[in-house]
Parts: sequence; structure tokens; C-alpha cells
Amino acid sequence: MSNETKAPASGRVLMITGASSGIGAATARRAGAEGWRLVLAARSIDRLDALAKELGGSERALAVRCDVTEWEDQQRLSAATLEAFGRIDAVFANAGFGGPRGFLNDTPEHWREMILTNIYGAALTLRATIPALKESRGHLLLTSSVAGRRVLPGSLYSCTKHAVTAMGEAARQDLNGSGVRVTLIEPGMTDTPFFDKRPTDALQDDDVARAVSYALAQPPHVDVSEILIRPVQAG
Ligand SMILES: NC(=O)c1ccc[n+]([C@@H]2O[C@H](COP(=O)([O-])OP(=O)(O)OC[C@H]3O[C@@H](n4cnc5c(N)ncnc54)[C@H](OP(=O)(O)O)[C@@H]3O)[C@@H](O)[C@H]2O)c1
Repeated sequence: MSNETKAPASGRVLMITGASSGIGAATARRAGAEGWRLVLAARSIDRLDALAKELGGSERALAVRCDVTEWEDQQRLSAATLEAFGRIDAVFANAGFGGPRGFLNDTPEHWREMILTNIYGAALTLRATIPALKESRGHLLLTSSVAGRRVLPGSLYSCTKHAVTAMGEAARQDLNGSGVRVTLIEPGMTDTPFFDKRPTDALQDDDVARAVSYALAQPPHVDVSEILIRPVQAG
């Protein structure tokens, strides 16, 4: 059995997109308690500011407004992180949203925003942070979904998450040899504001945060490539 473990999280820096709510916010709370310094990114700066304050203020958590679909925002986010903390050890590309199923049921404008956020936004996060992750021999995590492993009827959202699943594996192969680890987090239904009508018998946001925490806590030679996590009642 290997006794090798990662250095204590204290001082290491985790950037999270989609940190203003749900899985991203729960991950920030858990990682903060585990000693990570945090960079919280989303569009709702008021919520991010409140969360940063809760997590210890500017020494421990930095709130940065970032629309992940904007390359300039993503570049500013990385620059602000490096300026504040000098390094990026882990990145959780988590921002995303869904929409109604059925290819006749959603608007083309909403489709466009969803595709841009879920796929292009995640790719921009990788592009903006990979140089710093190579520097730190860090860890990249992406939120895909059960819907990124299993096609759901009429779900363009499911198509976007299949793209994220492919992006995670593409990044893992691309970064092979760099020391950077890549993990796909694939939650089933989780009770968050993702849903207008909140689900029952679902995972809680902290259940997913614990999966992130597990992947982050592994020794440097272990790449937890995928974690598929469902509520027990899932079909
Ligand atoms: N809930 C589930 O059942 C479930 C299951 C599998 C996967 N997921 C995935 O988990 C991730 C987090 O979702 P959640 O369930 O935690 O939902 P949520 O509570 O609605 O959180 C979504 C987060 O994404 C952010 N976001 C959306 N568009 C953005 C943009 N253009 N730029 C920056 N941030 C943006 C939101 O912040 P702002 O609005 O402040 O920008 C928010 O922080 C998503 O990728 C989702 O697809 C969710």
C-alpha cells in the first residue's frame, strides 16, 4: 500500500466556475474546509462575494465575475487568480445549465446559450488555465453528467454533456506526460437550482462535492479519470 499522499491542501489554489450555486458552491464550501484557497467564478457577483466572505475573505477566497462564454472574462479570471495567489493547482470547469427535452420544445436562442456555456465555455476554461496547471502539475476536473454517458430522449443538453465527456478524455490524453491529472465528474440528478421544480430522491450538492474532494485527495500518481454518481433510486 502506498503511503504517498498529496501535500495538505493548505495553500493550494482551486478555481471553480459555476461557483455561485449548487454543485460549484458546495464544492467551494467543502474544499474551503479542507484548506484550499478558492477562486469563485460565475456571473452573479453578489452571490460570489457573499460566499467568499463566508469562506474567510480575500486571503482564502477570491470572487471573480466571469461569463464562461467570453474569452476575455476567462483570461481575466486566470490573470486575477495568478495575481492574487500566484498559482493554480486545480480547476473545476463546472458552469452549465440544461433545458427542456424535445427538439421542438426549446428556443434556438436558449440552445445557442446552452451549447456555448456547456461546451465552448468549458473549452475556454481549459485553454485559459492549462498553462498554469502545467506549471503546478495540477488537476483539471470537468462536470459532465450521467446525461453525458447515456443519451436522453430529445435532450440537446445530453448532447452537450457527451461533448464534455469527450473533452475530459481528450484533455487527459493531451496532458498525458505533463503531470496534470484530469477527472470527469458525472452526477445523476442532483437537487440544485438547475431544476425549476426541485427533484426528490436526488443527490445533494455535497454528495457531488465529496466526489470532487476524493479525486483531489489522491496521491500524485493516481488519476481518477471518471466518477459516475447516481442517487440509489435512479433508473
Ligand atoms: N443538478 C443536476 O442534476 C446535475 C446533474 C449532472 C450534471 N450537472 C451539471 O452540474 C453543473 C452545475 O450545475 P448545478 O446543478 O449546480 O446547477 P446550478 O445550481 O444552476 O449552478 C449552475 C452554475 O453555473 C453558472 N453558470 C451558468 N451559466 C454561466 C456562464 N455563462 N458563465 C459563468 N457561469 C455560469 C451559474 O452561475 P451564474 O448564473 O451566476 O453565472 C451557477 O453557478 C452544470 O454543468 C450542470 O450541467 C447538474
